[in-house]
Amino acid sequence: MLTREEALAIQSDWDRQQEVYLPYREEVAGVLVDVVGAPARVLDLAGGTGTLAGRLLDRLPEAEVTVLDLSPALLAIAEASLPGVELVRADLGAPGWVEALPHKEYDFVLTMTAMHCFAEERLRQLYREVRGILAPGGVFANADRMPDAPARTEPSDAWARWWAGIAAHPALEALVGQQNGTSADFYPPVAWHGEALRAAGFAEVGTLWQQQGQAVVRALSAPGGPGTPRSSAPPA
Ligand SMILES: C[S@@+](CC[C@H](N)C(=O)[O-])C[C@H]1O[C@@H](n2cnc3c(N)ncnc32)[C@H](O)[C@@H]1O
Repeated sequence: MLTREEALAIQSDWDRQQEVYLPYREEVAGVLVDVVGAPARVLDLAGGTGTLAGRLLDRLPEAEVTVLDLSPALLAIAEASLPGVELVRADLGAPGWVEALPHKEYDFVLTMTAMHCFAEERLRQLYREVRGILAPGGVFANADRMPDAPARTEPSDAWARWWAGIAAHPALEALVGQQNGTSADFYPPVAWHGEALRAAGFAEVGTLWQQQGQAVVRALSAPGGPGTPRSSAPPA
């Protein structure tokens, strides 16, 4: 069994490992949490070990958070570290993931360092599917590497070392080898995401933050302005 303390320590190691690939990770996570701002229903897409969900709940304990990912090992870490979060194991590589969600609509869909896993046509379709599960006025935000020109990251074994480390834990050992998804390593620039989000039917698409080839893009599900999550809506 994985204790909460162990899961939190593994999560922390995950964050340090991910910083090798996304140096502004903590800043970016803060930008995503700020997007939500008030308690609401939030989906963390390809949320991995749940580190973004954890930051969100630290700030907004009343938020209703779902973490979706394909990796059973990462979800097991999320489960042990974040009691009360709804966890969904589903494959974003095909449209069926929408049916696996516990709710039909979300006020916010956030995703961090994950959309590069999908090839161009799949990501365009995924953006349409995300729009389909957002409540009117709902917000989607994607943080990832979005370089204007092809960028090289220094090779690092941080990823492989982290996975080898968790495989040593008896509760995770059997899960590590199971389906973990593959990455298309598709890193288009901010302008590509803007165009794809508009083509998917989003409105008010913009860049919230940008630094050294990393960015956070935000889009509204429909005109009408942000800040109309269901939790703050007046009673009918
Ligand atoms: C670099 S990790 C980022 C995880 C998390 N968002 C974070 O920032 O800590 C990429 C995530 O995408 C998930 N992923 C990759 N392909 C997937 C797929 N087809 N369906 C669902 N999740 C997938 C991986 O399991 C992993 O958790």
